[in-house]
Amino acid sequence: MEELHRIVKARLGHDALFGYPHALRVMELAEEIAESVGANKTIVRVAALLHDVAFDGKNVMTHAEESAVAAERILKDLSVSADRRAAICSAIKKHDFRVWAQEGMPESLEERVVSDAENVERCSPHGLIKFIITASRLPTYRDSADILRNASKFISRAYGSLFFERSKELAKESHELAKKFLEEVAKAIS
Ligand SMILES: [Fe+2]
Ligand SMILES: [Fe+2]
Repeated sequence: MEELHRIVKARLGHDALFGYPHALRVMELAEEIAESVGANKTIVRVAALLHDVAFDGKNVMTHAEESAVAAERILKDLSVSADRRAAICSAIKKHDFRVWAQEGMPESLEERVVSDAENVERCSPHGLIKFIITASRLPTYRDSADILRNASKFISRAYGSLFFERSKELAKESHELAKKFLEEVAKAIS
């Protein structure tokens, strides 16, 4: 596990929102959800830690697949068994609801736990700030009001994509707070 932490730190850097601290937050959330639903903790822990390992800030729509490919290589080098690699990499590939149409929905407990952990983080203040920063760099959004509207939609979609009750409990308060915050800011700038 130590070696994996070292690899993720080296690849993602220390950026509080997008780097290693994000992987760590998602890993901790995934462990907590795994505990309550009886998922395999090792699979969940490793998949959550590596879920964004190939994210470079720009490859939003392809990073899940690219992270799964990178994780397969990393885990093979560490002599992780083929069965475990398959379970871990499949959870990585399906961690982002934006690729479910191509990759399929998460089905195993472990896949669902990793996806939930990412979505709980998306409903948190970290997730909200991340969405606003990412959106502000994209040409897709017209202005601040447009970004706020889409942030609200994105957070609702993240909350609505949660599989487990424990995940909903973890996300509920910050999800409500984020929605209220977005409404107030949208009012203030209109
Ligand atoms: Fe991701
Ligand atoms: Fe992530």
